[in-house]
Amino acid sequence: MSAIRPTRKLSIANIRAQKGGEPIICLTAYTAMMAEVLDPHVNVLLVGDSVGTVLGGHDTTIPVTVDEMIHHARSVMRASPKSLVVVDVPFGSYEANPEQAFETCSRILKETGADAVKLEGGVTQAPTIEFLIKRGVPVMAHIGLRPQAVRATGGYRIVGKTDEECASLKQDADAVTNAGAFAVVLEGVVESLAVEITTQIAIPTIGIGASPLCDGQILVTEDLLGMFERTPKFVRKFADLRTTISGAVKDYADEVRARTFPSEEETYSGDKPAIPLRFKKAQPLKH
Ligand code: KIV
Repeated sequence: MSAIRPTRKLSIANIRAQKGGEPIICLTAYTAMMAEVLDPHVNVLLVGDSVGTVLGGHDTTIPVTVDEMIHHARSVMRASPKSLVVVDVPFGSYEANPEQAFETCSRILKETGADAVKLEGGVTQAPTIEFLIKRGVPVMAHIGLRPQAVRATGGYRIVGKTDEECASLKQDADAVTNAGAFAVVLEGVVESLAVEITTQIAIPTIGIGASPLCDGQILVTEDLLGMFERTPKFVRKFADLRTTISGAVKDYADEVRARTFPSEEETYSGDKPAIPLRFKKAQPLKH
């Protein structure tokens, strides 16, 4: 019997099994178009709440809603047959208590078909992570620099510069591991501390502004593609799409002004149908 939907090639067990082995490649995606391009190259696609800053123009991830996350996760799911798809749980939709978290996460999993959720927090969120996992919600944790907490922590600060911070982050890493998270994002963490945590916990660490020795790496895709003029120190621009797009759009505008676009090859002459099938006006439904 053939399956209705192709089996997803990567599972949570596959990702866990990469601990200490082949690096786990992760990137963010918010649209089907981007997911389709990334899927063959990555292990994990994160529908990050960074969508709020990257696509939405907000200055933090705080305004992002559950409905927005579901909308983007559905798009990504339609175009990612191979990767494990993880969806961020947005600010204000899980912190009150484990029941609130379960309500939000079960909705995300049911309405998107995604594989897992990611939520920010260590020791404080460990009871919630355990509650979710016992009820069938796979969780990736996110500790260190927590973008949803920037209003409380006073900005985008690197974690691990003092003994106190190091001790506290190690407790966070232990807590989410013991709670049952299948992996943990270490964001904005001093390199030596990221390495120490990676060697000490049993689950994969996914670094962003942490260390190349983490079990995997994640970046915001638009950062690595060079869509932003200013990026944090930990971003490497593997392309300069901002310049490429700007150049292409300038060329388009110039050619429109000069009336050289569309050309003869790009217009329909009388011997071809004037309106291609896909543009044909839909016929009204007969009742
Ligand atoms: O929202 C996001 O994109 C993230 C990562 C970059 C880790 O949380």
